[in-house]
Amino acid sequence: MNKDVLSEAGSLNQAVTALQMHFGMPASQIMEIAEAFRRAMVEGLYEKNGPLKMLPSYLGIPTGNETGTYLAVDFGGTNVRVLLVELSDGRISILNPQPVTSLLRDPGGKYDYTTEETSAEELFDFIADLVAKLVTPDESYILGHTFSYPSWQKDVNTASLICWTKEVKTSGVVGKDINLLLTQALARKGLGGVKPRVILNDTVGTLLVAAYEDGDADVGSICGTGHNTCYFELKPGQGTKPMIINMESGSFNLKLPITKYDEQLDQTSDKPGDHLLEKMVSGQYIGEIMRLILCDLAGKGLIFKGAEPSGFPFSTKVVSAEHLSVLISADLWAMDNMLINEWKISRPADDEIVALRSIASMLVVRAARLVASTYLGVLRHIDSKLERKHTIAIDGSLYEKMPGFSENIKAAIDEVLKDRSKLVTLRLTKDGSGIGAAIAAATLGF
Ligand code: BGC
Repeated sequence: MNKDVLSEAGSLNQAVTALQMHFGMPASQIMEIAEAFRRAMVEGLYEKNGPLKMLPSYLGIPTGNETGTYLAVDFGGTNVRVLLVELSDGRISILNPQPVTSLLRDPGGKYDYTTEETSAEELFDFIADLVAKLVTPDESYILGHTFSYPSWQKDVNTASLICWTKEVKTSGVVGKDINLLLTQALARKGLGGVKPRVILNDTVGTLLVAAYEDGDADVGSICGTGHNTCYFELKPGQGTKPMIINMESGSFNLKLPITKYDEQLDQTSDKPGDHLLEKMVSGQYIGEIMRLILCDLAGKGLIFKGAEPSGFPFSTKVVSAEHLSVLISADLWAMDNMLINEWKISRPADDEIVALRSIASMLVVRAARLVASTYLGVLRHIDSKLERKHTIAIDGSLYEKMPGFSENIKAAIDEVLKDRSKLVTLRLTKDGSGIGAAIAAATLGF
């Protein structure tokens, strides 16, 4: 068990300082993690072991001249979307006027397709129902499917789920051919004219969308509910053509500065020991790390002294990434609503508010610096002397919306690469998981 960082703190202020020291990551540590990450990439690629799965996508970089109209299914961590995408003369248009989307879990508790009690058929029928909102039984389309979970691909259209992540547990899907499940569900709805032809990870979709317009794009990443990165590999192995590799980097676990809170979170997670990096940097988990820190502070009498044992912060899963965002952005109205109505802290003291904001920022900065370390690892692998330009295409709610997150990734890269960091562009690439599926289908010439 990691050391008790708060053992010597006599006040809330001292406790926050101790936490900040403990969670801080100097540039030397970033470089150490980057190098461990680079080695893990090589190990995963050629020796097929180590923490990075290095999964083949069988997709290359698009030319920008791909054309056609395709259906895209985006099966993410939080919702499922269906889009009709047209590619023509380098232009991308979404043809459906209204978004066709649905949450995987109903916040009101009416349904939840992510529980063990849900079968694969029920889950894929739910997706096919969404497709039916956009397509009639007499229409024919080629469908690209973005499936944002670790999957082993045999070819561009055959992927079997290795394991669920992001706390999804739906039964009967692990080990199955995902596009076959989708094809069968489409047939059950009478949508046999819709043909799934390609399956890809959301990181791959993000890279494809950026590369459609930007010749320097060679890395794609998601920083949202989950976390993962892919890149374009010139030498994926003997007899294999250059292709985009889905690293499943959320499962990286070497040289990470794991605290006792990370250990606690991991132990109570669905899969202890798995996806350790993802559990330190992604929207699914960052709120829970904050809650565990607050529990520790409260248990030691350093914060929320009057809180009921059954109230906040003792009940589980009440702190979300959105809460961290509210705290950091100092949106006073939203903060009052959150503290008083959601967390039931009637009168937080000023030093408590300062502490909450500092802890939230500290976690976001650590997440950003960890993610930056892995990007630096990829750059070391693909361009060891850093001689050319690279665009890292990034999508996801944390990257787009969490105050300070993208800035701290950039700052960490600048800190390490100094003036050569101008060769590296971080590009917010929205909707990679939707549009990317259409581009993927188009690169294959359907
Ligand atoms: C999954 C990845 C995915 C990432 C972002 C992770 O939990 O394992 O496949 O790319 O989330 O959605």
